[in-house]
Amino acid sequence: MKSPLSNRAVVLGITGSIASYKAVDLASKLVQAGAQVDVILSRGASQFVTALTFRSFTHRPVVTDLFDPDSELAVEHVALAQRAEIVVVAPATVHTIAKLALGLADDALTTTVLATQAPVLLAPAMDGRMYEHPATRENLHKLEERGVTVVGPAEGHLASGLRGWGRMVEPGELLGHIAAVLGHKGDLAGTTVVVTAGGTQEPLDPVRVLTNRSSGKMGYAVAEAARDRGARTVLVAAPTALTDPPAVEVHHVGTALEMGAAVAKLARGVAVLVMAAAVADYRPVETAPRKVKRGKQETWTVELTRTPDILMGVEGPRVKVGFAAETEDLLSNAREKLRTKGVDLFVANDVTSPGSGFGSDTNEVIILGRDGVVEKLPLMSKYEVAHRVLDRVAKLLPARR
Ligand code: CTP
Repeated sequence: MKSPLSNRAVVLGITGSIASYKAVDLASKLVQAGAQVDVILSRGASQFVTALTFRSFTHRPVVTDLFDPDSELAVEHVALAQRAEIVVVAPATVHTIAKLALGLADDALTTTVLATQAPVLLAPAMDGRMYEHPATRENLHKLEERGVTVVGPAEGHLASGLRGWGRMVEPGELLGHIAAVLGHKGDLAGTTVVVTAGGTQEPLDPVRVLTNRSSGKMGYAVAEAARDRGARTVLVAAPTALTDPPAVEVHHVGTALEMGAAVAKLARGVAVLVMAAAVADYRPVETAPRKVKRGKQETWTVELTRTPDILMGVEGPRVKVGFAAETEDLLSNAREKLRTKGVDLFVANDVTSPGSGFGSDTNEVIILGRDGVVEKLPLMSKYEVAHRVLDRVAKLLPARR
C-alpha cells in the first residue's frame, strides 16, 4: 500500500517566520511519503531558509519570485496552481494570512493561492498577541469560511521568549492533516466512521489495573485509513502509548464501561463502527477506594464480573466490524463470533504468529464476511490491513443507505 501522499502534487508555500526551519522538515517528510513537492518561498522566507535547501531534496525548481525570468511561474504563472492537488502554506505569517484574506496577489505564493482550485491548508505561526488580535482572528475566520483548512497554531514556547498560542504545528502532525485534506473525495467521504482502539483498563484500586497487551496500533491505523479516505473519523481510545492521529476526533476512555458509554453515544446513526479495541471481558466487582496494602496476607482474591458486549449491544451503525485476536482455532472462533455478534465483517488474527502479535506494526489477518467471503491476507502493515478492511466496508455501504 502506498502512502496517501504518494504521487500527489503538493505545493508548499513558505513565508517569513522563524518557523520556516520546520518547513524544511515538512518538505522532507512530504518527499519521503512520495509526494511531488513544489516549493514557493516568499521574500521573507528567503531570509530564513534558502531555495537550495529545498531544491536539494525535492529535486525540483524552487520558486522565489514571480518576476524571475527563470522561474516557471514567470512563464506560466498559473501552472503550479493548476497542477496542485493541495496548496499548503506552512508557516503562514500574519501578513500572508491578511493578504490571502483580502485576495491580494503581489507575489508568487499569493498569486498561486488565488489561482488554484485545489484545497488550501494554512499552518499559522506568529507571536501570541498577533494571533489574538481581532484582525488576525477575523482574517482566519474569513479564510475558513471560504473553505481553507487552518491547522493550529499550537500553544507553547514562542520566539519572543514568551509562552502562548502561536507556534506552527509540528510537521509530523501537519502530514496527517494534509493526508486528510487530500482524501476529501475518497470513497468514505460524507460518512462518519467510529473506531475503537487500545486495551481497556479496569481499576483494582487507585494504582493498579487489569488490562491486556493491546498496543492500539491496529485501531489507530484503521482511524488513519478512514480519515485518508475522506471519512469524518471518531476514535474512542483506551489507554495506549500512541499520539492522537491528526484530523481525527479522539475520545479517551479508561474502562470497558466507559468505552461502552462512549460508543453508544458516538456511534448512533453513523455509517461504520470498527471495534478494534481489546475490551476487558471481566472487571473487578469492587474497586478499592484506597491503595490495597501489601499486608500480611499471602493471597489476594479478586472477584470479577462480566462486562457488557459493546459490539453486540450497539444500535445504529450501518456496517459493523469486529476484530478477534486468537491464539488457537482462528477460523472457527472467528466464524462463531461473526454469527453471534451480528456483525458484517470479522477480522481475525493469530496473535502468536510472527509479525502479528501485539505491538507489532504488521499484521496477518483473515477477513470473514457475513456473505461467506473469506479473504486470507499475507503479512502487511497495519495501515494496509486497515485499507483492505475498509475496501470491504466501502462495498457494503451503498446497500445500507
Ligand atoms: N468486544 C466488545 N465488547 C466486549 C468484548 C469484546 O465489543 N465486552 C468486541 C471487541 O472489540 C472485538 C470483538 O468483540 O471487536 C471480539 O472480541 P474478542 O475479545 O475476540 O471476543 P470475545 O467476545 O470477548 O470472546 P473471547 O474472549 O471468548 O474470545
